[in-house]
Amino acid sequence: FEPPHPPYDPTDKTGFSYETVVKRWPVIITGVIDQIHNVCHKLSLELQRPNAEKETAEAKVAEGKVIIEKLSKLKYQMGRDHPLEPIPADGEGQVETYNLELQRLGEAGKNTWFTAPWLYAECYLYRLLRSFCAATTHWNNYDPFLSQKVSTFAQSGTSILKIATSMHELESEKDALNSEKLGILFSEMVQMCLWGNATDLSLLTHLSPDDIAHLQSVGKEAQAARQQFILKDDQSQLWEHIQSLKSGRIDFVLDNAGFELFTDLVFADFLVSFTPYVSEVQFHPKLIPWFVSDVTPADFSQTLSSLLDPSFFSRFAGPNEGSTPSSEHLKHMVTRWKNYVDEGVFKLSVPLATPLGGSGSEVDLFGSFWTSPWPYWNLKDYAPELFSALQESSLVVFKGDLNYRKLTGDIQWPVWTPFATAIGPLAGSFPILSLRTNKADIVVGVDREIAEKLDESGEKWRVNGRYALISFLEASPL
Ligand code: F6P
Ligand code: MG
Repeated sequence: FEPPHPPYDPTDKTGFSYETVVKRWPVIITGVIDQIHNVCHKLSLELQRPNAEKETAEAKVAEGKVIIEKLSKLKYQMGRDHPLEPIPADGEGQVETYNLELQRLGEAGKNTWFTAPWLYAECYLYRLLRSFCAATTHWNNYDPFLSQKVSTFAQSGTSILKIATSMHELESEKDALNSEKLGILFSEMVQMCLWGNATDLSLLTHLSPDDIAHLQSVGKEAQAARQQFILKDDQSQLWEHIQSLKSGRIDFVLDNAGFELFTDLVFADFLVSFTPYVSEVQFHPKLIPWFVSDVTPADFSQTLSSLLDPSFFSRFAGPNEGSTPSSEHLKHMVTRWKNYVDEGVFKLSVPLATPLGGSGSEVDLFGSFWTSPWPYWNLKDYAPELFSALQESSLVVFKGDLNYRKLTGDIQWPVWTPFATAIGPLAGSFPILSLRTNKADIVVGVDREIAEKLDESGEKWRVNGRYALISFLEASPL
């Protein structure tokens, strides 16, 4: 598919892509260097103790130093607009895909950090970071973003407990839920799941606990106040579609771990436990550390265990308050989720125990595509088995900003382009829902007038995460 406009790239110095190469990526790479440095430092201290496992620790430190050298070189090359280097053959997925595309970009004179298409270069960056660890013995299953994901999640306790109590109250009203009430609740769930996307760690590098609480404020008033920031809202068509289902299957192409994943699980639970429309939910994670905070299979399992660990939130957020009604509600709800996982009602698209970069037929066929650089209109050609599997779904929910960029190819579509046009040949393949808070320049399906007014206001509405889009598209009739 050849879109009629070019993709976003940093040659436009007013775009978010330029700011990303100049500021955001160096900060992210420096963060990874710091993490690895800290691990090495701790290991060196341990080495001074008697009976320490000297050989392993020394080997790990030595490998850690090599990774740090590679990261430093990468930062240097990025800042000086060097060409992107081929991804080394590390035995994991997508190497050839990235390198063939890189070669093509080289022929077009667009293979340097300040000229390559933003979408390609950002995916390439995370795949390259993975290759630095994949090639080692001791860092092979290391996720440099894990501690950041876990500590931010642990600071989300207040909102999580509130939501758990709301779900508990809902349970007691379950028998009295008529279709009108269900519709209202559905809308609340959609919006909770949508705004859950605001806490992505690749954009928000310095969050205070107050900032987090503000972003996650979940009450009805908070939702109502944010309604005006939803610039495209296909909720009524979506609700009509959901009501037409009988024991359907929903797929979530996941975005971020932590609070956002929690909201995805609540939404999934609502559909399965409180409506007759859905009986199965399939979650699609990333196989490698991705865009800082995206969900890996390990994050998925760890989320459930953290939520069931009574000390998890208090360990990070303050003294243990012991068991409260809300914590009991949380335990009850997450135990239900665990049972759903055991029964296959909630399912990961790859085995739960898949290690980082893992392989195996299921993993390769159903997991690997999500960390390729491709726009989703290539799904049918590049991941035919996954495409067929999604065609069996009653609704595929694409969470977050990066999924939106991939749906639309991160193309410079005029803002009034219909969503169905912007997603190219993917349109009509299966029912699609995109829930996205705006964190990149690309926006489609919004009235020209509204967008022009926002542009004139000078507010960075395309990238500041305050605005959002709910885009829904039915499958074409067979
Ligand atoms: O725009 C900032 C950014 O890091 C983009 O690079 C990326 O598309 C996005 O945020 C990640 O956000 P999300 O987690 O919502 O996909
Ligand atoms: Mg993300």
